[in-house]
Amino acid sequence: MINYKTEEEIEKLRESNLLVSKTLAEIAKYIQPGVTTGKLDAIAEEFIRDHKAVPGFLGYNKYPKTLCTSVNSQVVHGIPSDDILEDGDIVSVDCGVILNDYYGDTAYSYAVGNISQEKKELLRVTKESLYIGIENAVAGKRIGDIGHAVQFHCEENGYSVVREMVGHGLGRDLHEEPEVPNYGKRGAGVLLKKGLVICIEPMINLGKRHIIQEPDGWTIRTTDRKPSAHFELAVAVGDKEPDILSTFKYIEEIINNK
Ligand code: MF3
Ligand code: CO
Ligand code: CO
Repeated sequence: MINYKTEEEIEKLRESNLLVSKTLAEIAKYIQPGVTTGKLDAIAEEFIRDHKAVPGFLGYNKYPKTLCTSVNSQVVHGIPSDDILEDGDIVSVDCGVILNDYYGDTAYSYAVGNISQEKKELLRVTKESLYIGIENAVAGKRIGDIGHAVQFHCEENGYSVVREMVGHGLGRDLHEEPEVPNYGKRGAGVLLKKGLVICIEPMINLGKRHIIQEPDGWTIRTTDRKPSAHFELAVAVGDKEPDILSTFKYIEEIINNK
């Protein structure tokens, strides 16, 4: 069952997603060669609690941390640890919160120090595909229009789309209906209506689309061990335009002033 939100609920979801956006900007200050993903996790947890919210992933299906930190060939659900980020790495940081009973869920893939042109382009195209997908989050379109737009842009650039992991509805639960695949057919799938809030989160591989799960039971990695990128924004479907509830603005202010 799809749970359409009232205007009041959308304002609460905006608050939650704004807090995640600001948490990811706080993290951006510390992303540099030598930092551990565990340190980023500690910073995020403290920042979230200081803002009267609780980490949304911690304890979710027994997940042990506040962030998911996925480096290079790790696609998503990497567990923060004592592992050190190195110059040339890319790291996807996915963060969730619960604030006033509503979830925020947003992710950004960062460059650590100087990265290759190949990785820069993967990050650029993946982020572009997210915004192109979002353009389709308007009433009257369908879920397949979003997935098709993401898939077309990424495949046109020679990349592949992860199929097994998808975006989702967002509300009092982290993962609500409908599923939001990053591939699909135009005009297919659930009809979009005002009040629907979804997370769109392309997971895009430089090489082949296939993934495996690591023995830790969480980390998802590309089978060919080539790099993967992941960006996520929460969006409310609008009558005329999408209403983007999270933002990369604060993250990119930090990055651009480094
Ligand atoms: N990465 C997921 C999402 O954005 C949520 C992670 S749940 C966790 O939807 F338990 F793995 F943290
Ligand atoms: Co997420
Ligand atoms: Co999500």
